[in-house]
Amino acid sequence: MKELSLHILDIVQNSLKAKATIVEIRINENLKNDRLTIEIKDNGKGMSQGLLEKATDPFVTTRKTRRVGLGLSLLKAAAQQCEGDLSIESVEGIGTRVYTTFQYSHIDRVPLGNMVDSLITLLIASEEEDSADPSNKSEDSAAFNYVYEHQINDQTFLFETKEIKKILGNTPINDVYVLDWIKNYLKENLERLVKT
Ligand SMILES: Nc1ncnc2c1ncn2[C@@H]1O[C@H](COP(=O)(O)OP(=O)(O)OP(=O)(O)O)[C@@H](O)[C@H]1O
Ligand SMILES: [Mg+2]
Repeated sequence: MKELSLHILDIVQNSLKAKATIVEIRINENLKNDRLTIEIKDNGKGMSQGLLEKATDPFVTTRKTRRVGLGLSLLKAAAQQCEGDLSIESVEGIGTRVYTTFQYSHIDRVPLGNMVDSLITLLIASEEEDSADPSNKSEDSAAFNYVYEHQINDQTFLFETKEIKKILGNTPINDVYVLDWIKNYLKENLERLVKT
């Protein structure tokens, strides 16, 4: 894939499929140590020991429409190409943590890309995941929380959808005007992070 933001989109979609209600995305760009790390942690259903051992094998998937699962194996390959790696910790009924490292300056490292678009897509997807399942109560949607933390050297930007939802009250977070506001807010703050 051309951008890490697309890999992140893919990995978080696994969390949504696993019925997570909290997904934490943490990106750390440490230019001094020449490392880039990406952590995605959820409180979804987790994986059995057997599945966990095979999860980064491209022929392992629990999906029924296609035999090959690619999300984790592609990101692992991208990391290993750049003096990095991908590791997964998962406990059934508790959740999953995917941790990926890269050499920041590695010639083969693809750019982070458009995180704003990935986050907006994920916001919409998390709302749809809720309403697609009739067994989900409407409170679940209100309880759903993304934590996005993006660190570049000493600067950190933290975004939590829980905070936005508090302010919004009954207005849905996937309202077009709300999404547009969030998009600009993320854009401004991430650009500021890069400049300073
Ligand atoms: N966060 C998670 N929680 C629970 N199970 C997970 C999680 N992430 C991955 N898995 C399990 O690992 C399998 C492999 O994941 P992977 O993303 O590589 O492929 P996939 O999601 O099946 O297919 P694709 O990503 O290509 O659509 C999944 O089918 C799922 O069973
Ligand atoms: Mg996947």
